[in-house]
Amino acid sequence: MGIMSVSTQALAIHGGTPVRRSYLPYGHQSVTDADVQAVVEVLRSDWLTTGPKVDEFEAAFAARVGARHAVSFTSGTAALHAAAFAAGLRPGDEAITTPLTFAATSNCVLYCGATPVFADVTSDTLNLDPEQIERKITSKTRAILPVDYAGHPADLNAINEIAKRHGLIVIDDACHALGAEYGDRRVGSIAEMTVFSFHPVKHVTTGEGGMVTTEDPRLAKTLRCFRNHGISTDARERQKSGQWFYEMVMLGFNYRLPDIACALGLEQLKRLDSNLARRREIAARYTDAFREVPGVIPPFTRSGANPAWHLYPIRLDLQKLSADRAQVFSALRAENIGVNVHYIPVHLHPYYRQQFGDRSGEFPVAEDAYARLVSLPMFHAMTEQDVADVTAAVSKVMCHYAH
Ligand SMILES: Cc1ncc(COP(=O)(O)O)c(C=O)c1O
Repeated sequence: MGIMSVSTQALAIHGGTPVRRSYLPYGHQSVTDADVQAVVEVLRSDWLTTGPKVDEFEAAFAARVGARHAVSFTSGTAALHAAAFAAGLRPGDEAITTPLTFAATSNCVLYCGATPVFADVTSDTLNLDPEQIERKITSKTRAILPVDYAGHPADLNAINEIAKRHGLIVIDDACHALGAEYGDRRVGSIAEMTVFSFHPVKHVTTGEGGMVTTEDPRLAKTLRCFRNHGISTDARERQKSGQWFYEMVMLGFNYRLPDIACALGLEQLKRLDSNLARRREIAARYTDAFREVPGVIPPFTRSGANPAWHLYPIRLDLQKLSADRAQVFSALRAENIGVNVHYIPVHLHPYYRQQFGDRSGEFPVAEDAYARLVSLPMFHAMTEQDVADVTAAVSKVMCHYAH
């Protein structure tokens, strides 16, 4: 259907017929019979929790992202907590991060008793701006925590260079970016530690789950110990060596990802390449379709970056529209398109306001983006019809509100 034909139809929010009958979510997992089979096999085996599947999943994951070590966790949030701990964040320390992220990124700094310090993002990729990072460095800064927003790698070379110059550690929150590439390197092998999530809307799911990758064997050892109550050996290792003795050497947590979840992750990982290819195809289709649509600014890709497209966040060009983001959002939802907003900048959340005061206005690029962002449905199981419905609904709504 051409843009002109959809633009003349009444919006569903005004009583017209919605573009879709059924609701299309912004993200959704895909689970195959092979996934189910792999999980059932583990359920019938001797090890439900830390068993052979954990090692297999970690080894396959490390190989896929080109890292020496991969340590699994019960969630991306637990993985971030462990990475922040392993980076040595303690009370009195500061870590610089982006406000345009899910709160878990900066919460992990708080879990360690340290202080998150926000720096603004660049207006193209909405990733941390290296110049703004430099301005926030103090004698208390210990770490930089970039986020690969929407799956587009952060400016990791520039950030690594700043970190090296100031003796800081880089934890890349790549919860959006499994499979992304930055130049000739894979996300997961660029920062000192990289954190991934296996939530169902991600490229690979284990239900809940997360991973930290690193080149550094000492960091890997700390991460393994931290996820196991601070105990240096796990039950399976002790069983193998015929030993019962163990000691707790640090205050850790139970953040162990079970074998059941790792079996699912192993199967899902086999489809990462096809999942990425599909997401890249959908992104290209969207970007192409929106060239002719007024008021839509598609996400920007820097040369040399190959994003993983966890999200496809458009920005509204509000000057060209007679509606604000809330109206466009409601109109798209009424068309049964499951749009979303990523993210409320973290410093604007009530908890952060209570802890750190009202910082609104301090991060103008992130805040301006927030007022205009709309995430469109993006998941690898989307059909051609789903993609066509999204482009038709966006055209219909935007043409209606265009001046
Ligand atoms: C940028 C970012 N960091 C961290 C997380 C936390 O991951 P999880 O949900 O696996 O705890 C998410 C989750 O979606 C995320 O988007």
